[in-house]
Amino acid sequence: MIGIVGGSGLYELEGFNVVEKLRVRTPFGEPSSEITVVQVEGKEVFFLSRHGEGHAYPPHLVPYRANMWAFREIGVRRVIAISAVGAINQRFKPGDFVVVDDLLNFTKNRKDTFYEGKFSIPVKGEDKVAELLTKGKVVHIDASQLYCPQIREALISLLEELNYSYHPSGVYACTDGPKFETPAEIRMVERAGGDVVGMTGYPEVVLARELTMCYATICVVANPAAGIAGYRLTSEEVLNLMKQRQKDIGTIIKLLVKQLPEEKTCGCENILDGAEV
Ligand code: HPA
Repeated sequence: MIGIVGGSGLYELEGFNVVEKLRVRTPFGEPSSEITVVQVEGKEVFFLSRHGEGHAYPPHLVPYRANMWAFREIGVRRVIAISAVGAINQRFKPGDFVVVDDLLNFTKNRKDTFYEGKFSIPVKGEDKVAELLTKGKVVHIDASQLYCPQIREALISLLEELNYSYHPSGVYACTDGPKFETPAEIRMVERAGGDVVGMTGYPEVVLARELTMCYATICVVANPAAGIAGYRLTSEEVLNLMKQRQKDIGTIIKLLVKQLPEEKTCGCENILDGAEV
């Protein structure tokens, strides 16, 4: 099953056939929105709005753990996230898609793991995740390939086929927000190797991985990052760009759901093997 996380400007999947809406409760609180079940190419796909209805959750207060837990509970095994980003890499222009392949985390106070040793929240279930949480294990997952290579590959071929302007790799740098960055912060992130900057990519990806789900992000460049643009950044600019790309994002989702092979070849499911202390 595929779960889609819609970011800024994508609060519902317009033009998709809605089957039902689910309210899921989790041991980590309520997810940021109801989960909409939509029918795509004869398959059911789950949609969750990261910022919730009316953009109620700012990036640093999104209930990332509840969101990923809710997905797992309803049977999602692959997560595709949509995220607006600012471009640091000078080759990336507003409107471009970026299939990121690595991460830099600059956030400070986000709950970014389910595995808190003896402080873990024990949960019911038969699988390895439930076992490790219930036993209060300390777990270190591998982060050398955070983004699912199989979904990334499918996305890249699709973007090529659609002839959209895209970049097949990039390092996503996550800042806390909610303010945009200073030019000096962007220069620091650039020196560290960041290509794009956003406020919500972390810890979502890590949490999905901890639950053994595949995860990939379609980043949409909404603006040149601070100091590169040479003008004042506004949320309006970001939302306008996302609106312009909304139809294309819908097309990507539909085709991806259709073309992604059912059988996994990525190994993301085995991430907990050897990870517990
Ligand atoms: N910085 C951080 N997050 C963002 C940006 C940005 O420039 N654009 C869209 N999301």
